[in-house]
Amino acid sequence: MLLVKTVEELQNSLKKVRELGTIGFVPTMGALHRGHLSLVKRAVTENMAVVVSIFVNPTQFNDPGDLEKYPRTLESDLKLLEQTGCKVVFYPGAKEVYPEPDTRQFNFGQLETGMEGKHRPGHFNGVAQVVSKLFDMVKPHKAYFGLKDFQQLAIIKAMVKQLNLDIEIVPCEIVREANGLAMSSRNELLTPEERKNAAHIFDTLKKAKKQKGKISVSELENWVIKTINENPFLEVEYFEIVDNNQLQPVNNWNENIKTIGCVAAFCGNVRLIDNICFN
Ligand code: PAF
Repeated sequence: MLLVKTVEELQNSLKKVRELGTIGFVPTMGALHRGHLSLVKRAVTENMAVVVSIFVNPTQFNDPGDLEKYPRTLESDLKLLEQTGCKVVFYPGAKEVYPEPDTRQFNFGQLETGMEGKHRPGHFNGVAQVVSKLFDMVKPHKAYFGLKDFQQLAIIKAMVKQLNLDIEIVPCEIVREANGLAMSSRNELLTPEERKNAAHIFDTLKKAKKQKGKISVSELENWVIKTINENPFLEVEYFEIVDNNQLQPVNNWNENIKTIGCVAAFCGNVRLIDNICFN
C-alpha cells in the first residue's frame, strides 16, 4: 500500500493500473471504522485497484468548532487500510486540494433544501467542491458511498450528472455497532455512556417502521421525535419522512412511493445522523 500526498504522485501511482482495469475510489475524512472498511473491501472485490483518500475538508463544515474537534487518526487509519487490499492512500494537504479558494456554487435544487441542507448551510456545496476535485484527481471508474449519508449520496449522484462525469456511484449498506448505532467517525467523540444511549436512535427508527401505515406520516414523525427525546442524552434536530428520490416530505403513506425516515440528533455535543427505509 502506497501513501501519497500530491496529485502528481497519485496519478503516477495509478498510470499502469489504469491500463489494466478499473479504479475504485473511497473518499473519506479519516477516523476510519468498520463502515469505511466495508466500502473499501467491496471496492477491492470490484476493481483492479482501490484508492482511499483521507482529507478533512474544511469547506463542508459550517461550524468551525466541529471542524476542529473532528477526529484525526492517520496512523491507525493506515493500519486498518493495510488489511483491506487498498492500493493507494491519498492524504493531501489543504493547499494540494485547494491551491486557490474554491468559489464554485453548486445548485442541487430541492435535493438540498431540507434536512442536512437546511440545518448545515453550505455543507453540500463544500461536499460537492471536494468530491468533484477528488474525482478529477483520482479519475476513478467507480466511487463508493455509505447509505448513512443518504442525502449526501443523492447530492453526489446529482453532481455526477451535472458535470457529465463517467463515474459509477455505488451506494453501500449502513454498518452498525452491535447495539444498532450507525457507524460514524463521530462515535469516537461519545463517552461510553453516550454511546450506549445513542442506540436509542435506531431502536426508535425500527419501532417507527412497524407503525408505518397505522398512524399518519406527521403523527409518526412527532412520535419519533418525542420518543428519541425521552432519552435524556438525546435531542432531535430533525426527523423527516421523505420520498427517497427527490427527498421531498411526504404527506400520506403511498405504497407506490418509496419513503425513508431521516434523523439528526445530538448526543451530548455530538451530532449523529441515521435513517431507515420504510418500504
Ligand atoms: O462522507 C464523508 O466522509 C465526506 O463528506 C466526504 C464524502 C469524504 C467528502 O469530504
